[in-house]
Amino acid sequence: MTGRTTAQQLAELREKLELAKEPGGEKAAAKRDAKGIPSPRARIHALLDPGSFLEIGALARTPGDPNALFGDGVVTGHGTIDGRPVGVFSHDQTVFGGSVGEMFGRKVSRLMEWVAMVGCPIIGINDSGGARIQDLATSLAWYAELGRRHELLSGLVPQISIILGKCAGGAVYSPIQTDLILAVRDQGYMFVTGPDVIKDVTGEDVTLDELGGADAQAKYGNIHTVVDTEKDAFQYVRDYLGFLPSNTFDDPPIVNPGLEPEVTPHDLELDSIVPDSDNTAYDMHEILLRIFDDGDFLEVAGQAGQAIITGYARVDGRPVGVIANQPMHMSGAIDNEASDKAARFVRFCDSFNVPLVFVVDTPGFLPGVEQEKNGIIKRGGRFLYSVVEADVPKVTITVRKSYGGAYAVMGSKQLTSDFNFLWPTARIAVIGAEGAAQLIVKRFPDPNAPEVQEIRRQFIEGYNRDMATPYVAAERGYVDAVIEPHETRLKLRSAMRLLRDKQIQRVQRKHGLIPI
Ligand code: HXC
Repeated sequence: MTGRTTAQQLAELREKLELAKEPGGEKAAAKRDAKGIPSPRARIHALLDPGSFLEIGALARTPGDPNALFGDGVVTGHGTIDGRPVGVFSHDQTVFGGSVGEMFGRKVSRLMEWVAMVGCPIIGINDSGGARIQDLATSLAWYAELGRRHELLSGLVPQISIILGKCAGGAVYSPIQTDLILAVRDQGYMFVTGPDVIKDVTGEDVTLDELGGADAQAKYGNIHTVVDTEKDAFQYVRDYLGFLPSNTFDDPPIVNPGLEPEVTPHDLELDSIVPDSDNTAYDMHEILLRIFDDGDFLEVAGQAGQAIITGYARVDGRPVGVIANQPMHMSGAIDNEASDKAARFVRFCDSFNVPLVFVVDTPGFLPGVEQEKNGIIKRGGRFLYSVVEADVPKVTITVRKSYGGAYAVMGSKQLTSDFNFLWPTARIAVIGAEGAAQLIVKRFPDPNAPEVQEIRRQFIEGYNRDMATPYVAAERGYVDAVIEPHETRLKLRSAMRLLRDKQIQRVQRKHGLIPI
């Protein structure tokens, strides 16, 4: 006999579980509701397959503390997305601002251990002030512990962070260790310290939006995708995971293979998509929508480094990672931000065995003092390194310009691309015709003289007609084939089929050293 009836024990459980639903109390819940944001559990339910959430640790609270609140600032558990298991945690703003205490740390650590064991993605819904100030070393120690576990999971299972509130300190250092960070505009903020602390320490005045707003942090390269609502964020994560395996040893889902095995009217539109004039821009998305399955393309990091588009598509039902130049943005010249974005994306795809497709139309790396000062040598070098390091199948389609160092990094054969297809509109050269002409005319005493300008005009015409063409490279075997644009989708399909069992054996070493 326990001294209490079974009914009393059930009642006790119910009472505790009821308290654990809103551990911060009515006042805190009302404050949250007034902000118009959902509870941490409602967020998890909106993300996962209906009815699939299995919560773990709802009754955890700091031992020996009479004021301890259930959950300790985080809701953790398991569920499914499109039927596949995931681990999920969601910060509870109503409990010490969602900050990290001992049981919070233990709960999330345990979840991280579990996803490693099962081999499934982990998704964090972040809305936290970071380390719990009153918990001193305990809080710091648990944050450091979470950092250690992020590294163990890195490249093993996809790690995703959704930023839904003002996140500071450890609540940004933890997400930055993950693979995808997305935030809701005018709601999700990231900074190491907020505007008030900055004002105190350095005297600088900065607005919340300028410092940590989702759009600002996307420009700084810390947030990969900005969406307008929480619902959009959850849908994006569901779509994103649809392109990925659950872990590095698993295969991603295959969706509708074998559709449209012949050339379609949509394919034929590719034959007239590249403008006749070399300097006319067009939207690269128009090509991407036609060369993959069903026009299905999920862009990643669309707000950062817009000279390069990165995202996922499918070839014959199987996911690929796409790195494409965007002529609509700075003519597709690769700047620091675009380099970083591409390097990161390539490395992520490689670690989860997602093949890569490069679609090339770029006049080169962006020249400029700002670019040099901000590290275009090192950052472009990182992009180069990551392309060679990636040993997944790689196929390159060069649609127009492929100049200079950008020729090399955008999936050149010499940097280990497996198949290189060129459209007849491709131009491979060290620099563009105008740049080459400039080097010649500046040798004349009066470069602006009409006869010199005529030489310039003729040089540009000849250069584009006879030199910057696909054929110099094709004749020397630097590329594999010049194809008609409408053949691209089916060529990609054959190439990826042939590469399915590609394996690269490397000499054993500890690790290479990417230029950081
Ligand atoms: C304890 C915290 C907290 C924290 C917020 N709260 N942050 N409690 N520890 N870190 C509490 C507040 O006291 C308040 O409680 C409630 O959460 C909401 O906070 P507000 O300030 O009212 O909200 P808001 O104005 O929206 O501002 C949010 C904020 C701000 C910008 C995040 O709270 C803030 O700057 N907090 C401190 C951030 C910080 O310095 N964290 C430590 C970083 S160091 P009541 O009861 O009033 O509702 C770190 C080390 C990492 O994290 C180590 C990594 C290895």
